[in-house]
Amino acid sequence: MGELCRDRVCIVTGAGRGIGRAHALLLAEHGAKVVVNDIGSAVDGTGTDTSLAEATVADIHSAGGTAVANHDDIADWEGAQRLVNAAVETYGGLDVLVNNAGILRDRVLVNMTEDEWDGVIRTHLKGTFATSKWAGAYWRERVKAGESNDARIINTTSVSGLYGNLGQTNYGAAKAGIAIFTQIAATELGRYGVTVNALAPLALTRMNEGLPQMVEADDEERERLSTRKIAEVAVWLASAGTADITGRVFEASGEILAIAEGWHRGPTAPGVDSEADLDGVLRQLLADARPNADIDGQDLEE
Ligand SMILES: NC(=O)c1ccc[n+]([C@@H]2O[C@H](COP(=O)([O-])OP(=O)(O)OC[C@H]3O[C@@H](n4cnc5c(N)ncnc54)[C@H](O)[C@@H]3O)[C@@H](O)[C@H]2O)c1
Repeated sequence: MGELCRDRVCIVTGAGRGIGRAHALLLAEHGAKVVVNDIGSAVDGTGTDTSLAEATVADIHSAGGTAVANHDDIADWEGAQRLVNAAVETYGGLDVLVNNAGILRDRVLVNMTEDEWDGVIRTHLKGTFATSKWAGAYWRERVKAGESNDARIINTTSVSGLYGNLGQTNYGAAKAGIAIFTQIAATELGRYGVTVNALAPLALTRMNEGLPQMVEADDEERERLSTRKIAEVAVWLASAGTADITGRVFEASGEILAIAEGWHRGPTAPGVDSEADLDGVLRQLLADARPNADIDGQDLEE
């Protein structure tokens, strides 16, 4: 067992199952004190079940680790504050916030309902903001009081938000929002000793177990798509050794490790004096520009 996170106090949201559970177990294995948050919802965000977070905590305890459960809804303003307070009150501080909890309500745009949109945006985007806001405020107060931090926020985005995926305008928009939120928050929180990075994971969980790629996966592929491979990257980012890395988005899985490069300004021209010139200028810029990416982050073929 490594000791990369010895005595670091870590919150993991959505840690009752899937990738979050793997984060919590591996952080604890590396010596962290973990607040295991999970509301225990169905994949679409409906319902609650407290037994999930409790089960992760029980497994950490039986392996000799330290953990406590929290059942707050991360997208609830006071709930997110209670979660951050739980870490401070139980373990005397907070070093790492892993924003992982998420839901899916896939639907093509023209059939999507208001609830399907609102639920996904709320859980992912507001859920990431709310917990980060309270954690950031806590770290800022420490700096004001003359203390220093070596703190981390690790967000969870998706290739759906970086490169785009059909049937996921709600989820992709939320995950794209989390990617740029990561960059901006990194710039703002650096002065308080906080790094902010994001993972775009790929692992076999209930979120994707029905997809053909997952159903057809053989044992070797399933092993490569294990949630533990994502947790290994999270533990590395959570450790004290990565204080110099911030504002980056990592594609992470047992199959691929990559840095997702953010939006950049492409081909550029001066503004035109006459509206009549626009078509020609913009078409030339488009001809010179790199195409958007496909779901694998490669140039989309015409
Ligand atoms: N599985 C993948 O390949 C994959 C790919 C890209 C991104 N992701 C992202 O990774 C994260 C984890 O996904 P997963 O596959 O482990 O899903 P999962 O459904 O197995 O686990 C998500 C957990 O979050 C919890 N949760 C949902 N809403 C919550 C809320 N408001 N407050 C607290 N907990 C809440 C659920 O109860 C659940 O236990 C999500 O953000 C997801 O969008 C996953």
